[in-house]
Amino acid sequence: MNAETTTIAPHGGTLVQRVLEGEERRAALSRASRLPSLTLDSRGVADLGLLASGAYSPLTGFLSRDDYLRVLHEMRLASGLPWSLPITLRAADGAGLRGTVALKGPDGAIVGLVEVREVFTHSKEEEAQLVYGTTDAKHPGVAQLYAQGDLLVGGDVRLLERPTPLFPELALDPADTRRAFAERGWRTVVGFQTRNPVHRAHEYIQKAALETVDGLLLHPLLGPTKDDDVPAAVRVSSYRVLLERYYPRDRVLLAGFPAAMRYAGPREAVFHALVRKNYGCTHFIVGRDHAGVGNYYGSYDAQRIFDRFTPAELGIQPVRFEHTFFCRRCGGMASPKTCPHEATSHVILSGSKVREMLRSGTLPPPEFSRPEVVQVLADGLREVVV
Ligand code: ADX
Repeated sequence: MNAETTTIAPHGGTLVQRVLEGEERRAALSRASRLPSLTLDSRGVADLGLLASGAYSPLTGFLSRDDYLRVLHEMRLASGLPWSLPITLRAADGAGLRGTVALKGPDGAIVGLVEVREVFTHSKEEEAQLVYGTTDAKHPGVAQLYAQGDLLVGGDVRLLERPTPLFPELALDPADTRRAFAERGWRTVVGFQTRNPVHRAHEYIQKAALETVDGLLLHPLLGPTKDDDVPAAVRVSSYRVLLERYYPRDRVLLAGFPAAMRYAGPREAVFHALVRKNYGCTHFIVGRDHAGVGNYYGSYDAQRIFDRFTPAELGIQPVRFEHTFFCRRCGGMASPKTCPHEATSHVILSGSKVREMLRSGTLPPPEFSRPEVVQVLADGLREVVV
């Protein structure tokens, strides 16, 4: 069975593949050691891998000026195709950045090549305002942008060395997930992005969506996140125990999404959806404050932004959920859409409150999180803190 048996086409029509292998790779590696080089940070390494695997199709490299400006101002590539986040390569110094340039990881090892098309400048404040909706350096995505070089380097990439996955068994490329969906006979698949452990609210919206489609891709982001997010290793243990106890095995695929978190709220929601389309999903869950941080975005801004595109040009269908919670009077999970009771009946805990409880030895109640998940988190966070 090949990747084409799934129902949804990749964004732009073709699944990009920029991984060099075998003799080509060996020749490129030996040539690369004599080329000028640029060092990527962990987010850059992640982006290179995602570009090469086709997760960012139709992108074949880091954005050139035309694409970059149109993405910033209109959330579209120069071709007119929707694309909401600038995937950029930044450099502090443009000297020697011509022709083929080697890309190195933070440890100095060569990981890929970029065919430099252009080197250009642009205002970081403008990028911050348009992408993150703020120029506040306390926003983690803006802070990262401000810490990088001032020059942008556009050009196609080739991957020579895959980033080492944290969990090799969860490292599935878009071609792999597409194949897995086809093998299972899933024609409709809902994707779920998360940077958190899966609590009852997440479980509820996943299962509500799954009621109407063939399969669920539980696709936790495993790339760099901010320091106070729950570490990926602890999260992965929690996903495993949850799936084992509470989900039908033949309806769920767990895979890692190796991107960095940007915390760009609405724009990142569109990006997350388009990328999951490349992984073969036909539907994508967007709940409350998707990819948000602090109070930078309204609770449903990440849902409304999808209205700026036609369903046909997005291809993937957003599945929107209001703020869900356990309601003691309903005796089950609910949302303002389905529950008539007052807020005092609702069990709602913020992520920071949960972390604080776990660190002080108090376990969040089963209405908030499955006991097995709570146990994994309590054990994992104790180890991290100690
Ligand atoms: S993030 O990657 O979007 O930052 P998070 O784990 O917080 O991850 O949320 C994953 C998905 O679940 C997002 O679509 C988010 O909007 C949704 N979500 C999280 N909590 C709730 C909730 N209580 N009610 C409805 N949607 C929620």
